[in-house]
Amino acid sequence: MKNIGTTAKLNNGVEIPYLGLGVYQARAGQQAQNAVKWALETGYRQIDTAKFYGNERDVGEAVRASAVPRAEVFVTTKLWNSDHGYEQALQAFERSNKALGLDYVDLYLIHWPQGNRADSWRALLEIYESGKSRAIGVSNYTIRHLEELLSDSPVVPAVNQVEFHPFLYQKDLLEFCRAHDIQLQAYSPLTKGYRLNDANITRIAEHYSKSNAQILIRWALQHDVVVIPKSSNQGRIQENADVFDFEISEADMAFLDALDEDSHITWDPSDVR
Ligand SMILES: NC(=O)c1ccc[n+]([C@@H]2O[C@H](COP(=O)([O-])OP(=O)(O)OC[C@H]3O[C@@H](n4cnc5c(N)ncnc54)[C@H](OP(=O)(O)O)[C@@H]3O)[C@@H](O)[C@H]2O)c1
Repeated sequence: MKNIGTTAKLNNGVEIPYLGLGVYQARAGQQAQNAVKWALETGYRQIDTAKFYGNERDVGEAVRASAVPRAEVFVTTKLWNSDHGYEQALQAFERSNKALGLDYVDLYLIHWPQGNRADSWRALLEIYESGKSRAIGVSNYTIRHLEELLSDSPVVPAVNQVEFHPFLYQKDLLEFCRAHDIQLQAYSPLTKGYRLNDANITRIAEHYSKSNAQILIRWALQHDVVVIPKSSNQGRIQENADVFDFEISEADMAFLDALDEDSHITWDPSDVR
């Protein structure tokens, strides 16, 4: 993982930057626009939004206003739960694409699996074939949902976006996705802030002279997972991108992996590392 521009190749050949900015709860208007502006200035080239976040318009505006060419920014948006169904999904995509105003979307995801997800997926296939979205995928799909989809689709979803951090290390799902050439994308990589100040994360961060957030982001990257931390703060947006100049050792990766099973273990710097 060399630098902020490093990309993963999706199963259709489209490249996605490993690091992106999430904009859930970035307030519509100036806050969301500034977050995207600062991220692009910092070197981020991936933005993750959704119809549900209410800031697609601001994401599009900030991307258009930036000096970075549209083609160099990877923009994801998502189909919301109330818009499931074949016709509804086609219409919802058109609304999102229009709100973004970027001609096309790079990745369109089913936000959550709902009852009529198969009809929605048919709509996504059509959107993909039309070229209006360069890739399509899913979010919050378990192995069962993926197996069901794979059994009846000519196209393998490019991405599955799920919650993924050391306290929710979805190892089986990660391995399943890898085996089927589906790129896992980690949301809430900073645990939404809830476990950011965990004592073990703090000890490890001190050991590497990095922040707790940087340790969590680096952990996801070293699992070969695309990661989309959210921040609306310029300093923290920069901090979250400063993760390409160090490497977590194998032993420390194994320790972090184990936090999912037992968060009462204690990191000890005297262990052989
Ligand atoms: N597909 C889905 O169902 C789904 C669900 C949830 C999230 N997501 C996506 O994933 C993105 C990230 O997940 P998330 O927003 O749930 O949570 P997150 O990225 O785990 O955490 C965001 C929180 O951490 C704070 N933060 C950011 N950087 C920090 C740092 N360096 N030090 C201390 N605090 C920091 C942020 O506050 P400040 O803004 O004040 O910095 C915010 O409160 C979302 O924005 C969204 O794009 C997708």
